[in-house]
Amino acid sequence: MAGNWKMYKTAAETTAFFEKFAPLVAQSVHADAVICPTFVNIPAAVAATQGTRIEIGGQNLYWKNEGAFTGEISGPMLKAAGARWVIVGHSERRQYFGETDATVLQRTVAALEAGLNPIVCVGERLEQRESGNTESVLKTQFDGGLAGLTPDQFAKVTIAYEPVWAIGTGKTATPEMAADAHKFIRAQVAAKFGAEQAAATRILYGGSVKPDNVKSLMAQPDIDGSLVGGASLEAVSFSLIVNF
Ligand code: PGA
Repeated sequence: MAGNWKMYKTAAETTAFFEKFAPLVAQSVHADAVICPTFVNIPAAVAATQGTRIEIGGQNLYWKNEGAFTGEISGPMLKAAGARWVIVGHSERRQYFGETDATVLQRTVAALEAGLNPIVCVGERLEQRESGNTESVLKTQFDGGLAGLTPDQFAKVTIAYEPVWAIGTGKTATPEMAADAHKFIRAQVAAKFGAEQAAATRILYGGSVKPDNVKSLMAQPDIDGSLVGGASLEAVSFSLIVNF
């Protein structure tokens, strides 16, 4: 269960969140709990979660380890700051910052080389769903962003299916719609990396996940967790999701 904080919270707000959140999920051994704050608040988040089961991630990374790339952050830098996870290819990165399937692949490889666990996002936009192209979009994103990994690399990847029209809109995909997409993605994994790997791959659902809909989503066999934006910003709300 991963929280994507996007561009929210100061360092003080980050620390205050974990003071409240950590005790609420202390017994949650059934799930991994991950929070991805902004880059500058990773140290505060790492410090606040010392000795807990909560792990910290970045929201993006660049694919070079260092160099003249003003404004960018590398995998080794995230790792050294105490991050263990990193989101790659979020639809907001694709929409506003020119992310493509090719750069998703480069970032995913860089994350793996730095020893980070990438959470790679895929998902269709509204017009793509309405024109019946959801599966072809997911296949293109999988083929361009993930199929180029070696089996050993792919084994460490978590996929997040996030229909773009459901992000931050309050419109959740119905559990059945989400389940169909997850099943399709898992079939792509099976075709490329084999049935055993497909069964082992974690596929998260994201898009307006809330405490009151998490249970019906998680009841779908192909949904292994969730990537949560808005509802991860408040400690009680995200604890209810982790403890669904
Ligand atoms: P949301 O965001 O839960 O606010 O819809 C999900 C995401 O963008 O990862």
